[in-house]
Amino acid sequence: MKSHAITDNFQDANVDALAVAVFKDEKTSGGVLKELDKLTGGLIASVVKSEEFKGEAGETLLLRFAPKGRNKASSLLLVGVGDKLDYKTSGAAKVAGTATRYLRKINAKSFALMPRCETAEAGEVAACAMQGVLTSQFELDKYKTQEKNEKSIDGFVLFVEGAKASVLNDGLQRGEIIGESMNFTRDLANEPANILHPTELANRAQKMAKEAGIKCEILDEKQMEKLGMGSLMSVSYGSEQPAKLIVLRYEPKKSTAKKGEMLAIVGKGITFDTGGISIKPAEGMDAMKYDMSGGASVIGTMRAIGLLKPSVPVLGVIAAVENMPDGKATRPGDVVTAMNGKTIEILNTDAEGRLVLADAVHYAEKQGATKIIDMATLTGAVIIALGDLNTAVLGNDQSLIDEIVECGKEAGENFWQLPVGTEYSKGIKSDIADIKNIGPARKAGTIMGAVFIQEFVKEAKWAHLDIAGTAWADAEKPHQSKGPTAVAVRTLIKLIEKSQ
Ligand code: BES
Ligand code: MN
Ligand code: ZN
Repeated sequence: MKSHAITDNFQDANVDALAVAVFKDEKTSGGVLKELDKLTGGLIASVVKSEEFKGEAGETLLLRFAPKGRNKASSLLLVGVGDKLDYKTSGAAKVAGTATRYLRKINAKSFALMPRCETAEAGEVAACAMQGVLTSQFELDKYKTQEKNEKSIDGFVLFVEGAKASVLNDGLQRGEIIGESMNFTRDLANEPANILHPTELANRAQKMAKEAGIKCEILDEKQMEKLGMGSLMSVSYGSEQPAKLIVLRYEPKKSTAKKGEMLAIVGKGITFDTGGISIKPAEGMDAMKYDMSGGASVIGTMRAIGLLKPSVPVLGVIAAVENMPDGKATRPGDVVTAMNGKTIEILNTDAEGRLVLADAVHYAEKQGATKIIDMATLTGAVIIALGDLNTAVLGNDQSLIDEIVECGKEAGENFWQLPVGTEYSKGIKSDIADIKNIGPARKAGTIMGAVFIQEFVKEAKWAHLDIAGTAWADAEKPHQSKGPTAVAVRTLIKLIEKSQ
């Protein structure tokens, strides 16, 4: 992808099309729109007047220039952004993405964008716009041999009036890293389970680590048994595919972190979840190939961190396991011992995410993590509670939770806090072991998952993100195909960069 920034003469950009963000009910009698209106011979004013274009978020309208005008582009795309007051820096990603998807369809190869984020830092606007250009072009057609999308935008010009070109160009480069890392995450989440089993996930992480300049260590089942990871391993017994613990380490050349402080991001990497002996119904089971989305978001975030090189260390841990029913599989009622010594009565083998995370989170703390954020497609209950619009966040440290919610707002991702506490923790007390892996039927399912994981955190500040509702989009949007979303990648990058 070729990209660069310009700071004046938007209309003269050497591209196939121009695109401009337009606010809801914006007047064309002044400012930028007046200038552009002149260029179109009054077309903008007329489509606004006729209400053909209102500037609603995601709305688009293409205006053609008369041939042989002075501009090189042959058309101008209006991209609605909705209310001006709600339009934030991260909105540039949606605008850029919406324009990209529209313009490539009409065979444009390049375009120049005026995102019009006024208050924000120009570098961040550039990063968001570039990310949007890249993530909007991700498609689910990897395995199609026919009707594959062959159209692409491969030249992007960003216009921000009055900004420094060097700042914008740095931002474009950052955005390229972030956008490609998100697409890397999405490709992993989209892979079918026959192709992406735990070993393959580990191989992809290893290859990525080499390219991004970070360390990667893969623990096999023997090593995990030796460490006493009886909880994680209990999920793997029913599978022919050996489990892997993927450990990614980013260490900055010069750290500005407080001595001994380290963030770990930990992901659920169930490459397929049949439910095990507590088997799931047939309908919709295919969706469970995405049950490694938390792990995929960890791997994508670590890729971005390796390339962006912040001055703080980050540990990434992914528990890659396949949950299958088999003669060797764990039975409901079995009792296992986790790495931290706690005993678990497994009453439902379909509540497997918390079982693998128990040992992964404990392992991260043993490795020196003082802050842990885990991500998991953990419960169907979170989809009932929050739909696909908010990721649930729960944890033992309010300041960490606030930080995640805040970074999410800036990154354009929504997080909503749910409670934990000793009264809820009583719900997972077992009659015969320390704890059981499910709570009371149909009560606070998402919270029960979180308080279970909490049992394996000792002193670290910890937050849990239940991404079951947000990791996969069921419908296409103007700026994004349906399918995997790379949820939380942008938010975590922000959080890590802010902690420098
Ligand atoms: N991977 C599922 C969660 C899930 C379910 C995600 C549906 C997306 C759609 C998880 O492993 C699971 O099966 N959770 C159970 C827990 C229950 C047995 C306590 C659930 O939510 O039903
Ligand atoms: Mn399950
Ligand atoms: Zn699962």
